[in-house]
Amino acid sequence: MTTPRHAPVLLDRVVALLAPALEAPGSVYVDCTLGLGGHSEAVLERLPNARVIGIDRDPAALQMSSERLAAHGDRFTAVHAVYDELPEVVGSLGLDHVDAVFFDLGVSSMQLDVRERGFAYSEDAPLDMRMDPTTGRTAAELLNTATAQELTRILREYGEEKFASRIAREVVRRRETTPFSTSADLVELLYASIPAPARRTGGHPAKRTFQALRMAVNDELAVLRRAIPASIEVIGVGGRVVVEAYHSLEDRLVKRAFADATRLDVPPDLPFVPEGAEPALRLVTRGAEQADEHEIAENPRAASVRLRAVERVLPSSPSSPGVAR
Ligand SMILES: C[S@@+](CC[C@H](N)C(=O)[O-])C[C@H]1O[C@@H](n2cnc3c(N)ncnc32)[C@H](O)[C@@H]1O
Repeated sequence: MTTPRHAPVLLDRVVALLAPALEAPGSVYVDCTLGLGGHSEAVLERLPNARVIGIDRDPAALQMSSERLAAHGDRFTAVHAVYDELPEVVGSLGLDHVDAVFFDLGVSSMQLDVRERGFAYSEDAPLDMRMDPTTGRTAAELLNTATAQELTRILREYGEEKFASRIAREVVRRRETTPFSTSADLVELLYASIPAPARRTGGHPAKRTFQALRMAVNDELAVLRRAIPASIEVIGVGGRVVVEAYHSLEDRLVKRAFADATRLDVPPDLPFVPEGAEPALRLVTRGAEQADEHEIAENPRAASVRLRAVERVLPSSPSSPGVAR
């Protein structure tokens, strides 16, 4: 196997968005999706006052990035967790708030490239797809146990697959005689289920199904739905949350959470803003920022990125933990 690689997306822009929150000595940055540590390494190198906490649910990613970032000594702490456990991770390190939180959603190129992980439809391997291979059910187990209705929902919702119900029916039919175990089993079924004219357009016929299964196996949207409000809650005044999403459902979720947190909730005809009604956060990005053609040419993964950021301008509500910040 070649050395695992992952080119960090919109690296300079991400560091620029994080920088104002991480200038003070002792400031704390949480990278919720450490991966191979590309974004965290840039923070450690370019923002010398920041301490970095890197979370990943994938033990292999944590090990590789820990080796890569070891030279930074105790400025870097690696934590094996799912990112909706952010409040517990921060609490366990004796902190009541942090200064910046970053999410670079989805899987890394390293996970796609390691054949045995079963993420890639182009490689025949056990159909696993768990970001944390120590827990939860594999993609094969999901295919072999879910109802046709549940499979249809997953393929339609997460993969926007037009032939979702047809594929789900075929999966259920096939597993009665031969349960799924490898990615080739599934790719073969997809070729047989998707009509030839549709197979010739819209990319590889397995792409949407593999993406949908990965999102279901790792419960990605539900975890993100809990994690974004938790990240907003855990930053102090002047703190920032920066998110890179690559899937429209994820970006929509982030956009809504940021809009809710930054909305001024007074009647539009009120001539003044009553004290206490000001939103506690402000949007830092206007709409979603995207990668330019040059970056996309170098790194095709950047093509679908949507980058958004918010900043806390007022302390969190008195009922929330960490009132004093
Ligand atoms: C796109 S990669 C991050 C790449 C990283 N920014 C870099 O430059 O190397 C996403 C990483 O987040 C991890 N991840 C995804 N969802 C997670 C979750 N819910 N909790 C913790 N880690 C997660 C994946 O295992 C993967 O290593």
